[in-house]
Amino acid sequence: MTGKYKLLAKTTFGFEDILAEELRLLGAENIEKVTRAVTFEGDDEIMYRANLWSRVALRILKPVKSFPAGSEQQLYDEVRKIDWSQFISVDDTLAVDGVVSNSVLNHSLYVALKTKDAIVDQFRDLTGKRPSVDTAHPTVRINVHISRDVANISLDSSGDSLHKRGYRNQTGEAPINETLAAGMVILSGWDRKSPLIDFMCGSGTILIEAALMARNIAPGIFRNEFGFQRWKEFDNELWEKIREEAKAGEISKVDFPLTGIEKFAPTLKMAKENAGNAKLADSIRFQAMTFEEYTPEAQNGTVIINPPYGGRITDQDLLQLYKTIGDNLKKKYKGFTAWILTANKEAAKSIGLKPSRKIELYNGSLECRFLKFELYEGTRKKVKEAE
Ligand SMILES: C[S@@+](CC[C@H](N)C(=O)[O-])C[C@H]1O[C@@H](n2cnc3c(N)ncnc32)[C@H](O)[C@@H]1O
Repeated sequence: MTGKYKLLAKTTFGFEDILAEELRLLGAENIEKVTRAVTFEGDDEIMYRANLWSRVALRILKPVKSFPAGSEQQLYDEVRKIDWSQFISVDDTLAVDGVVSNSVLNHSLYVALKTKDAIVDQFRDLTGKRPSVDTAHPTVRINVHISRDVANISLDSSGDSLHKRGYRNQTGEAPINETLAAGMVILSGWDRKSPLIDFMCGSGTILIEAALMARNIAPGIFRNEFGFQRWKEFDNELWEKIREEAKAGEISKVDFPLTGIEKFAPTLKMAKENAGNAKLADSIRFQAMTFEEYTPEAQNGTVIINPPYGGRITDQDLLQLYKTIGDNLKKKYKGFTAWILTANKEAAKSIGLKPSRKIELYNGSLECRFLKFELYEGTRKKVKEAE
């Protein structure tokens, strides 16, 4: 298929601006930001590139139809009016994902089921046979999004969510997802050529995403498959060209330190394995120790960490941990810029430094703040004055 069409890239709250910029650089046109998504226009090439290259998109959807859906029957009837033979054959397998907000139809699973029924009933009535359902590994994944009683039906060109890069087999406790890590690195303004430290690195996600950026490695290059590869009109030649181009543009090494510190040795082992899977074993130095024991060699650079948030009740140990983080930053990281992602506002106060920026982000459903601290000389004096 040639020609341009409308597309929609989904992301998490707070990444709309960086997603729009990524898409602009990939050649997308008529880009518009909406909450947790960006709409744009492009052709198959842009759609393939967006899937392969976007570091913060979760899914790239290709809209099929939009219509009012104030009732179950209306949803069913309108879905049946779409000529599904354009996109699906009876031998395909289907999955339908439902998302609902502020609507009469307020049950996402039920909405997905109704949509699936309308599609398979159309096939059964026309051919006597119906495509079967495969929620895990369908040939065609369909997205139904109902907001304020308007339904948007789309084909999901990504298949599995794009945060599943394919390099992370193992994780420690409370890992952040790959798109969140990538978005944090981009928002931090890290220049991709100076020292970067995560001294509570867990399974290494932040550093791995950063190293992929520094080495110009496409985040989707390790994935086995994207949804569009199973579509009828899939252009394998074009896709291979885009992949080959991406591989040819990879930078073979970095000449500045990317450092991961983690106190729990088995978790650090996972970080090393994940980095190895992403061909980054030579690019990140991992060390099993506590951040209290570690002193950076570099005089300046960026720190990005994601400490534990604790439960609902903030215990003294957690407050002490955040205080120790603050003390270490003040003592050992003068000249650095530090960023901390936390969902625990109370604990954040114990850092004892005044953030120069606070960005609202979400780790899953947890509302977080991504806090920036500039650790120039004299920071302590400034904090004292502020207090
Ligand atoms: C929320 S997890 C980080 C998850 C990580 N961002 C990832 O994606 O896997 C916090 C990590 O800090 C580590 N940690 C806690 N206290 C530490 C300390 N004093 N020094 C170093 N690491 C520590 C924990 O073992 C845990 O792996």
